[in-house]
Amino acid sequence: MKKSISLRVNDQERNLEVEPRTTLLEAVRDQLGLTGAKLGCDIQVCGACTLLLDGKPVSACSVLAVDAEGCSITSIEGLSQGDTLHPIQQAFMEFGALQCGYCTSGFILTAKALFDENPKPSEQEIREYLAGNFCRCGCYQEIMQALKNVRREG
Ligand code: FES
Ligand code: FES
Repeated sequence: MKKSISLRVNDQERNLEVEPRTTLLEAVRDQLGLTGAKLGCDIQVCGACTLLLDGKPVSACSVLAVDAEGCSITSIEGLSQGDTLHPIQQAFMEFGALQCGYCTSGFILTAKALFDENPKPSEQEIREYLAGNFCRCGCYQEIMQALKNVRREG
C-alpha cells in the first residue's frame, strides 16, 4: 500500500506517494525526475547512486524513501547556483575527470561532503573518503587532479 511522504530535496519540499519498498534512488529519479544519480550495482558497493542525506553521502539504492522523510537531501542537480557550477563541478570539467559520466554525480557529491567536513584534505584522506566510489572508465587520476586543485583553491 502506498504511503504519502514529504522529502526536502535541494531545499524544496516535495510530496510523493511511495511503496514501502521504494528506494530513495527510485523516488528521486523516477518520481522527481532528478536523474543525475545512477543505478549501478544496486547493492551498495559502487557509489553511482550517491546522494547527500543531511550532508552525508549515502548509497540511495540501499535507503528506503520512507526512511528519508524529514531529512535534507541533496542531489547533483542542487549543487550549482543558477548557471554557476559548484567549484568541484568546475574542477571536474577543467581536468576532464569523466568519460561516460555514469559515476560523476556520485564522486562529486561524496567529494562535496568531504570538503564540507575537511576543507584541506590530504591526498590520502581524499583517497580514503572516496574509496566507495568506482569509476569504470578509469578516470581516477583526473579525479584526483581535480580534487587536489579544489583543495588548493578552497
Ligand atoms: S547503485 Fe547504489 S552503490 Fe551501486
Ligand atoms: S566516467 Fe565512466 S564510470 Fe566514471
